[in-house]
Amino acid sequence: MIHHDSEHRLWVLSGPSSSYVLHLDDADRPRVLHWGPRFTPEQAASLLLRLPPLGFRPVEDPLEGSFDLVATGGLCYGNAGLQVRFADGTRDLELVYTGQRRADRELVLTYADRHYPLAVECHYRLHGDVIERHLVLRNEGEPVTVVRADSATWVLPRLNGYRLSSVRGQWGAETRVHRTELPYGETVMTSRRGVTSHQANPWAMVDDGTAGEEHGAVYSCALAWSGSWRLTAQRLPTERVTLSAGFGHDPVTWELGTGEELVTPVCAGLYTEGGFGAASRAWHDHQLRHVLPHAGELRPVLYNSWEATGFDVSLDGQIRLAESAARMGVELFVVDDGWFGARTHDAAGLGDWYPNPRRFPDGLGPLIDRVHELGMLFGLWVEPEMVNPDSDLYRAHPDWVIHRPHRRRTEHRNQLVLDLSRPEVGDWLFRTLDELLAKNAIDFLKWDMNRPFTEAGPDERLWLGHVQTLYDVLDRLRAAHPHVRIESCSSGGGRVDLGILRRTDQVWTSDNTDALDRLDIQHGFSQLYPARVMGAWVTDSPNPYTGREIPLDFRFHVAMAGLLSIGGALTEWSQAELDRAAELVADYKRIRPLVQHGRQHRLLPPGGELSAVQYLASDGAETAVLVFRRARRFGHADPGIPLRALDPRARYRDTATGEVHHGAVLLAHGLFPELAPGDYASALIHLIRE
Ligand code: DGJ
Repeated sequence: MIHHDSEHRLWVLSGPSSSYVLHLDDADRPRVLHWGPRFTPEQAASLLLRLPPLGFRPVEDPLEGSFDLVATGGLCYGNAGLQVRFADGTRDLELVYTGQRRADRELVLTYADRHYPLAVECHYRLHGDVIERHLVLRNEGEPVTVVRADSATWVLPRLNGYRLSSVRGQWGAETRVHRTELPYGETVMTSRRGVTSHQANPWAMVDDGTAGEEHGAVYSCALAWSGSWRLTAQRLPTERVTLSAGFGHDPVTWELGTGEELVTPVCAGLYTEGGFGAASRAWHDHQLRHVLPHAGELRPVLYNSWEATGFDVSLDGQIRLAESAARMGVELFVVDDGWFGARTHDAAGLGDWYPNPRRFPDGLGPLIDRVHELGMLFGLWVEPEMVNPDSDLYRAHPDWVIHRPHRRRTEHRNQLVLDLSRPEVGDWLFRTLDELLAKNAIDFLKWDMNRPFTEAGPDERLWLGHVQTLYDVLDRLRAAHPHVRIESCSSGGGRVDLGILRRTDQVWTSDNTDALDRLDIQHGFSQLYPARVMGAWVTDSPNPYTGREIPLDFRFHVAMAGLLSIGGALTEWSQAELDRAAELVADYKRIRPLVQHGRQHRLLPPGGELSAVQYLASDGAETAVLVFRRARRFGHADPGIPLRALDPRARYRDTATGEVHHGAVLLAHGLFPELAPGDYASALIHLIRE
C-alpha cells in the first residue's frame, strides 16, 4: 500500500515486511529517508524530526547519494542516473515537482524542467515487497539527447560496511557468484554486447558484510532488459551507497524528438531479511507471481537433439531419438539447429526458415506427427535475429544486417546480426515465424541468439530498437499462437533477465552440461532466478565439453534441480542406462511440483565435498532434497544436512525407505543420506508430512 502525507511531502510505500519512505525536500528533490523494515506512516513521519545533522562541508553537497532521482546539475558530482543534453547545449536539468498520481499499489511522481519543456515521470509499482520503478520522459521542446536514463536509483541506508554480490561468467561458465567489499567510487557492471550477456547479469545485492545464507538484511535490485545495460554501484566517501541501473551503455545516447516520449524498462528493488536465501526466494516468488507468463504450469520433461546430432539432422535419426525419449518419459521433443535451409554446418542457412528439402522432403509434418503420436509435444530451434552471409535472405537483403559504411562486417560463428530496428526487418521476422507456426503444429520454440553486436556504433535507434522489436515480435507471436511456449537461449545463458522472462517460459542456462560445473552455474543462477525457468540437460559421459566422466544418477540429480531435460545421444546408451534413466525421470515427475513451484533452500553451496538443495511445497506438506558428493576423502564422515522451514512438530515419511523423521530432528541434526561410497555420489530424498 502507498500512504501520502501531503503536509510533509512524504510517501510511504509498504509491502508486507518492508517500507520505502520518500520525502520531497525544499528543492523538490526526492530524498530517500528509509528503505528497510516496514514502518507505519507515523513512524515514517518521525524520520523527518530526526534527520542527522548535515555538518559543515563547504565543498560538497552533504545530501549527495540520498536521492532516488539524480539528474546532472547543481552540486551533483556523483553518478547521475538521468543525464540529458538540450538542443542549445545545456546539460543541467532543474526539475520541479509538478504533481502525483496514486492508486493502491501505484505511484507516479511527475517533474518538469524549470525552463525546457521536458517532463519526467517516476513510476513506482508495488508487488509485495518488490518495488518496480521506471521513468517516462516526455519532450515537447526541441529535440533532446538523452545520455542516460536509469530506470531507478536505489538508496541504501548507512550500514557498518558494504558488500556487493553479483554474478560474473563467460560462455559455458555463466552465473558464478562473486562477493566483494564494495570499493569507494563507482563499480560498473555492464553489457555492451546488445544482449544481456554471459559476462554479467543485470542484478546486484548489497549487505553490510555479515549476511549469510540464512540471516541478515539484503538490498537488491534487478533490471528487466535484454539488451545492453549498465548497473552502477556507487560508494561515496561519505558512506552513502546507491545502486543505479538502466538500459544502454556509454556512449550510446537516445534522441528524443519533439512530442516524443521515452519509457525505460523496469528496475525492481527489494529489501529482505533472512539472508541471501530469503532474498532469492523473494525474487523467485516475484517472478512466479508477477513476471512469468504461465508460471502456474508445470514445465514438461524435455529432450533436445543438439548434443546428440549436431548439424547432422535427419528425419529417421530424429524419429529414432524421439522414440527412445518417449520410452524414457520425455514429454517435449525439441529438434535443435540443422533442420532448415542449407544448414548442414554453421556457415550457411541462417535466415532461411524453411525445412531443408533434402532432409525433410515432405516438410516437418511427418516428424511432428510422429512426435505427437508418441504422446510428446514438438519443439523447434530457431535463431531468427541472425543471418549467414551464405543464405538466400542475405543474398536478397545484404543491407538488412547491422553494419556501417566503410567498416568491415565482423562475422562471428559465420553470422551477422539482423538490424531489427528497421521496420521492414521486424515485419519480415514476425511474418516468417508466424507462418512457420501457422503451417506446422509446433508447440515450443527454442529462440537462440548466438552472437553479440558489432559495428553498431553509438546509434541508439539500433541498440534500443533491436530489443523493442524483439519484445514486440515475441508479444505478437504469443498472442497469435497462445499455445506455443518459448525458451530463451543465447549460446546458453546469454539472455536471462526479467525482461525476457516476462515473454518466455524457460531459459537455456548454459551450453556447459557437465554436471559438476553445473552445480556452480545453478547455484549462481538461483540467486535471482527460480528453478521453474532453469533448463538443465542430462547429456553423455564423458561430457563433450569437459571430458569428465560422471555417473548417470549424479547427472540426473543435478538436472532435477531445475527443469529436467535430456540431451544425450540416446541411441548410444545401453539398455541398463535407458531403464535407469526412465526411473529417474519418473522420480523427477514426483517431485516436479516442489522444484518448479515450491520454495528453494540452498542447504550447502557447491565447492565443498558435499552440497545440497531443498525444495519445499508452498503448503509445507512435502519436501525434496538433492544431495551431491563430488569427491570422497578417506576417513572423512559426511556431516548431517539440517533441513529448513519444516514444521518441528510434524513427522515426515521418506517415500523411498518408509522411514519416519521428526521435523524437529531434521531441522536440528538434519538428514544423513546414504550415499554410495565413491566420488560423484548423489541422492534424492523425498519426504511427505504425515
Ligand atoms: C547455442 C545453444 O546454446 C545450443 O544449445 C544450440 O542450440 C546451438 N546454439 C545450436 O547452434
